This record gives sequence, structure tokens and C-alpha cells, in this order.
Amino acid sequence: MRAELGHHQEAFYSKSSIPRPHIVRAEGLRYFTDDGTVYIDANAGAAVANIGSGNKRVLNAMVDQGRKMTFSYVRFSRHDPNLELTARIAELAGPGFERVHLANDGSEANEMAIKFLRNCAYAAGRPAKRKVISLSPSYHGGTLGTMGWTGDSEYTAKYGDMMVPSTKVPAPLTYRPMNGLSGSEAALWAAQQLEEAILELGPENVLAFIMEPVGGTATGANVAPPAYLRAVREICNRHGVYLVFDEVMSATRTGAFLAAHHQPEARPDAVVIAKGLGAGYVPLAAAAFPRELVDTLTQTSGFDLSHTYNANPISCAAGCAVLDEMVDHHLIENGAQMGDLLKARLDELATRWPMIGDVRGKGLMLGVELVSDRDAKTAFPGAADASGRVRRVAMRNGLLIGGRRLNGGAFGEFLMLTPALIITPDDIEEMVQRLDLTLKQVTENLHADGFLKG
Ligand SMILES: Cc1ncc(COP(=O)(O)O)c(C=O)c1O
Repeated sequence: MRAELGHHQEAFYSKSSIPRPHIVRAEGLRYFTDDGTVYIDANAGAAVANIGSGNKRVLNAMVDQGRKMTFSYVRFSRHDPNLELTARIAELAGPGFERVHLANDGSEANEMAIKFLRNCAYAAGRPAKRKVISLSPSYHGGTLGTMGWTGDSEYTAKYGDMMVPSTKVPAPLTYRPMNGLSGSEAALWAAQQLEEAILELGPENVLAFIMEPVGGTATGANVAPPAYLRAVREICNRHGVYLVFDEVMSATRTGAFLAAHHQPEARPDAVVIAKGLGAGYVPLAAAAFPRELVDTLTQTSGFDLSHTYNANPISCAAGCAVLDEMVDHHLIENGAQMGDLLKARLDELATRWPMIGDVRGKGLMLGVELVSDRDAKTAFPGAADASGRVRRVAMRNGLLIGGRRLNGGAFGEFLMLTPALIITPDDIEEMVQRLDLTLKQVTENLHADGFLKG
């Protein structure tokens, strides 16, 4: 029966993610299978399960709320959990993010942010503003709207004009010099590409520029340089273009509630938060905007888009309890400290294993770039399936770790390390030892197959 069910499910997932272990129980950041195997999870699922599994405060909050009221349709009614969660997010997000709209996942919240800003431009008498600019590479979600903004050539090849593609400009990648430049020159060159795209499209037609301040799986945790963020803020101001930070993955895990907090002078006009907000207990996401923007729209056209489950009471109650846990146990600060520790340990692994080309990221949002030739920074060919090998060998060593190779590998191949914010130094030690063993074994078999130099 189980094999039969599993067989049907596999069809809905990427071939590269098979085999998937059959998990029956979880505790903190450890997962248990029905045959007694224990895995430590380097990814918190997908940068989601930030406070681990089975947190009693969150579970009790959900049950308590469920006993009072399970659902009330947000379009026709107000309820306390909605008011409380949006107030709490606004407080943590701080100045410039006083108004919060709730959604169910990252893709939906990204779309809501852009649709909300479109409403603002339309109500302000700028109806031509419809174009979106985004980065290549990037990832913004799996709906047809967000796939159009995602910088992944494989989507374009497969879905073509089923998506509405944004105009793509180069991401400020730090590992490989862009256009022969490096450091702040490269950052300013990348920002200049944004300005040129705006001028080419006509500023009167450009609504928004959406970007990840710390990248996820599309860039292997590329951190946008401060000079780049300052420059894009100025460019967006100059041309009346809204700046949107997609922090679906980065919110809560870069050592601050928002990655945007690291650089207040480059504050975006909207920020999108998801994964860690529901922390795996409920589907939950949010888009936050400045007070003035939202209040102006409220006085004019208002905003009339929502989804049935937006701000449902049980999700909101869970979200409040997740944020309480994060605040009371200083988990954001723990993320900063443990992130430094984990990065230092990964840097040590890089001295041992030549297949590590770069270790980067901020806090507990870390990426390890895999290369076949470290000196030349050469990416592995697809046939090597380097990140897939790591994933499968790591599973045999009791470690869950995800890797990605988007854009046909044009921008490299990475392992992501985005563990739960509750991680301890002992967990890090265990994770790194298992990864060390895994890299030893993968190095041997990549050598044997002729894919690895050095
Ligand atoms: C940066 C970023 N944006 C958007 C999304 C889409 O979020 P969801 O899968 O919750 O729709 C993701 C998911 O991985 C992401 O990492």
C-alpha cells in the first residue's frame, strides 16, 4: 500500500530529489524514518522549520485559537489574530513597514506586493506603469506570475509566453567577476544595468524592481553588496520605480528580522516575508509596505484582491506564537552567532575539499558553491550531478542537505545551508562532520569519474 502511494507521489517531484526518505517523526532539527534512520537537517526543510518541530507554544496557540474560532472570512470580517499578527510583524519590521498584508506562501505574497503597488500607481494616475524588472539569476516563486519574474532560462524555454516575463538585468554576483570587474566596480556596473533597462523601457512604464537582498537557491546565498543596494535605491528614487525586496527566504535568518535592516539607507518600498513566518506549522506569508503608501490607497481606490485563506485565524495564531518564540529565545541573534560559527567551519572544509569554490551568505543563510576546478572557478557539467551526488551520499551519512543547479548551471551549482534558528554549536559540529565525510566520499567518486580537477 505504502509503495503504491509513494509511487504515485514521486511523479510530482523533480527526478533530482529522488530518493526522498519516508519521515514519520521529527524532533527539533532531527528527522526519523520508519526504519529507524535519523537525519540532521541542514536546510530546515527549505529554510522554513526555524524553531524546529513540535514546539508546544505554537501547537497550543493553534489549538486554543481553533477552540475559539477556526475560520472567519477576511474579506467580510475582522478578527484579533489577524490584527495581532500584522501589528507584531509591523513592529519587528520597523519604520517603513507599518502596514502588513497576509498571504499563504511566498509566491502569492510576492504577487500581492506587486499587485498592490500596481494599484498604488494606477490610483495615482500613472496607468502605464506595468513593467517589472528583476534579476538574472533569481527565484521568485512557482506561480505563472512569479515564474515570469524568476531569472531562470529553463522556465523561459519551457513555458514561454504562458508567463509574463519581466525584463531581466544581471544579478550582482560576487564570486565570478562580472564583465571583467570585481568588488564595488562590479556592483556599480550591475546597478547601471538596472538604470539602462529603466531608461530603455521608459520610466513611465516601469512599476517595480524586485530582487533578493540575500539570494536563495538561484544564487547560492549571494549577498548583494552594500554599494549595489545603495545604487539601486537611488536609481529607483530617480525614476519613480518601486523597489521590492523578496525576503521570502532571507527574513529572520540573516541575523536581523529583515535583511533590509542591515542597510536602512537602501530600504525598499515593499518587503515580502514567508517561509520562517509560519515556520512549518502553517502556510503563512506577508507583504509589508510604508504607512503613507497604504493609507493613501485606502482613501482612494482601496485594494480588492485577496485569497480565501488569507489571514485565517489558526495561521495567524501560529504566526504570533512563532514570533514570540523567536523574540523570547533570541533566535535571530542566535542565527547571527551560529551563522558565523557554521560559516567558519565551512571555510575550514573549503581548505580540505577542492570541490568547494566559495562559501558565502549571511547568518544562517549560507551557500557553498561546487566547482570542478577551483583555480578556474569552473562549474561542474550537468552530467556530473555534483549537488545530487552530495545530497544522496549525505543521506547515507544521516544528513539532509539540498543543492541546486538552476539556469542549466550557467551561474554555478550550490549547496544551501539554512538550518533551523534553534541550532546549537553541538548540532553544527555534527552537521559539519557529516558533511566532511560526505565531501570526502563524493570527492573520491567525482575523481573516479573524471569530473574533478586537483
Ligand atoms: C526567494 C524566494 N522567493 C519566493 C519563493 C516562493 O515561495 P513559496 O514556495 O512559498 O511560494 C521562494 C521559495 O523558495 C524563495 O526562495
